[in-house]
Amino acid sequence: MGKVILTGDRPTGRLHLGHYVGSLRRRVELQNEGDFDRMFVFMADVQALTDNASNPDKIRENIVNVALDYLSAGLDPTKCTLYIQSRIPELAELTVYLMNIVSVSRVQRNPTVKTEVKLRGFENDSIPLGFFCYPVSQAADIACFKATTVPAGEDQKPMLELTRELVNRFNKLYAPVLVEPQIMLPTNATARRLPGTDGKEKMSKSLGNCIYLSDDADTVWQQVKGMYTDPTHLNVSDPGHVEGNAVFTYLDAFATDQDFADFWPEFKNLDELKAAYEHGGIGDMKCKKMLNKVINRMLDPIRARRAEYEKDIPEIFNILKKGCESAREVAAQTMDEVRKAMRIDYFEDEELIKEQTAKFSGK
Ligand code: TRP
Repeated sequence: MGKVILTGDRPTGRLHLGHYVGSLRRRVELQNEGDFDRMFVFMADVQALTDNASNPDKIRENIVNVALDYLSAGLDPTKCTLYIQSRIPELAELTVYLMNIVSVSRVQRNPTVKTEVKLRGFENDSIPLGFFCYPVSQAADIACFKATTVPAGEDQKPMLELTRELVNRFNKLYAPVLVEPQIMLPTNATARRLPGTDGKEKMSKSLGNCIYLSDDADTVWQQVKGMYTDPTHLNVSDPGHVEGNAVFTYLDAFATDQDFADFWPEFKNLDELKAAYEHGGIGDMKCKKMLNKVINRMLDPIRARRAEYEKDIPEIFNILKKGCESAREVAAQTMDEVRKAMRIDYFEDEELIKEQTAKFSGK
């Protein structure tokens, strides 16, 4: 078996810099390194609907937004298959079979789901059943493509653990058809969690603390200008703190030595700037201007590609449709094997007809 990379996002909003450093940038690198047999990136609209049942329009709107984010970030439909979860009905079928080999209490133990239940105020009596079960559906997302490698954040660890458990149980119980996946965590520490521009733990649309991949230069500057820094750094001459200072967390995530050479040659690299800032004498505004340049340099090629793709939206649908068709072939193949392993491939199983004929002919 070769290496199959698979990952996805819920299409509930435009993608922001948190998504970019956390996963999108790495996906594009993986894609371009080409060290895989197949790479799949999909929009998990079924999963998004598990807590958005009353608002399918939100998902519908964001299919194109996220597709544009993917393509403009550099995902290339000739190298990786882009598709939409709901268009692969085999995933729903596999989910149902996997549900039979996991207990309710096992699913209840998922820490990511527990956090999400609290966040959404579902408490115990209003959790949609589909939402409760989405980790099983996610296991199907992964197993149906025999993915070996799932690039994802720390919060997805419980999903991958469950997937491995279900794959093992399926293979032991029926036949070794499914493949155990490994999570591929982000490599650098800041990529694991980019705070919001307000310094809060995470970027979140409702907090208005995001910088989106699709933001123009003015919008980016508004966000950067208002960024949380070091509340004890009152005068330029005061010593500053870089720990917990969002501007520096972002510089950590994005600034390269080349950026310093081009935009702030007084410093060779971020370490030098940090040392100077901690010593005192470096104004926050200067750091913000630097960060603004760094972000725009990174976003400019993404913006250029987006502008091209936006000229031909029907082509986006075309790309997704082709991706769905191609992904579906793989999923359908796995499901043939799954049904055979479970011995419910009634029309492909010639023995079954013979056996049943013998049984009813009284022999
Ligand atoms: N749960 C993921 C998220 O919230 C999205 C997702 C659904 C996914 N199915 C997946 C990610 C399979 C990786 C593999 O972002």
